[in-house]
Amino acid sequence: MHTFDYPQSRMLFDRACEVIPGGIYGHFSPAPLGQTAAFPFFAARAEGARFQDVDGNEFIDYMCAYGPMILGYAHRAVDDAFRNQLALADTVSIASPRMVELAELLVERVAAADWAFFAKNGADVTAYAVTIARAATGRRKIVAIRGGYHGTHPWMQAPGHHGIAEDDHRHCIRIPWNDFAALEHVVAEHEGDIAGFIATPYHHPTFGDSVLPAEGYWQNVEALLRKHGIVFILDDVRCGFRLHRGGSNERYGFHPDLICFCKALANGYPIAALVGTDALRTVTASVFHTGSYWFSAAPMAAAIATLQELDHVDAPRLLEIYGRKLNDGLIRIAKSHGFTLRVTGEPCMAYYRITDDESQMLHQRWCAECTRRGAYFAPHHNWFVSTAHSDADLQRTWDIADEAFRALKTAA
Ligand SMILES: Cc1ncc(COP(=O)(O)O)c(C=O)c1O
Repeated sequence: MHTFDYPQSRMLFDRACEVIPGGIYGHFSPAPLGQTAAFPFFAARAEGARFQDVDGNEFIDYMCAYGPMILGYAHRAVDDAFRNQLALADTVSIASPRMVELAELLVERVAAADWAFFAKNGADVTAYAVTIARAATGRRKIVAIRGGYHGTHPWMQAPGHHGIAEDDHRHCIRIPWNDFAALEHVVAEHEGDIAGFIATPYHHPTFGDSVLPAEGYWQNVEALLRKHGIVFILDDVRCGFRLHRGGSNERYGFHPDLICFCKALANGYPIAALVGTDALRTVTASVFHTGSYWFSAAPMAAAIATLQELDHVDAPRLLEIYGRKLNDGLIRIAKSHGFTLRVTGEPCMAYYRITDDESQMLHQRWCAECTRRGAYFAPHHNWFVSTAHSDADLQRTWDIADEAFRALKTAA
């Protein structure tokens, strides 16, 4: 099995560094990958579960654009819907009928939704949700989970991040995940001043194991929030439509007031949605929030096609089956080489860690060895699978993983 080189990627990165601060920013930045020499930085094309970089190397993609890709790249029905709408009208001076149709579709499939609102990015709708919670309650504080990610607005960032002032998160209280007693404590301590509680369906921090909800956690949270009139916000930006067709709360049995969707909603086309209950309809209409491209119709058409296709193939079931097979195989292969691969979170978007080395250097090196052989694995973030990943991809991935473990042992 030959290993890849990346001369064109490196050249582009050098050019990027001249004209873009940091070269490549945010979650696509090379820095968290650790062994950066093993990774490509620029893609030339993508189809199904695979992408090709600018050097012509092909990868089975286990990051799926960090979540937006769920049906495979260049999906025919989704891309046709996008292109057809583009030919008719996209960003225009008045709204598109696609907006109403997409809202109707979401209200029909998401039990917790009586209405829907559209934006572009996950952070657009998490920020809007928090503003609605404040407007609805007349209170200031937002409770969030320590290590939980909701985007890059100042209040969402961890204290101490560059450019973030203490005041920016003054009204954001962070508590540990799965710790119901901690929530009870802050609710008592700030009685009458907590507007909302925001959390992801389960805890999936970067550089750390994922943790599923403890038995009864969500039901206890829901009861407490209701009792104190606190708006219950589910950030389903990352998990949305992967765990359940109607929102991840259905998977874990609870009822939020607001749900934020984004990544997988249109299989890569730019759109985010906030959905909510009737009780918040009037206040939502009164909270001003908009953006230059938020009425763009082609991504709405793509979202409609994506939701229909997700149903057609029963995506959550397919993703779970592939994820389980992938994980069982990888754990078995690791064991056959004397390593322990810990897999946490839901099978279709699990977090992986070789536990034989607490520094995680070994894990970084294994992900690098896999990537330079054609299975694109980021070491610090949960991976994703799509409905386009096939049994042939699975076998190829296992073969690559096997050889990567062998390479680790040879290098040791
Ligand atoms: C759970 C969660 N919430 C919010 C966001 C922010 O989304 P965006 O980057 O589209 O603003 C992300 C992005 O990764 C996310 O995973």
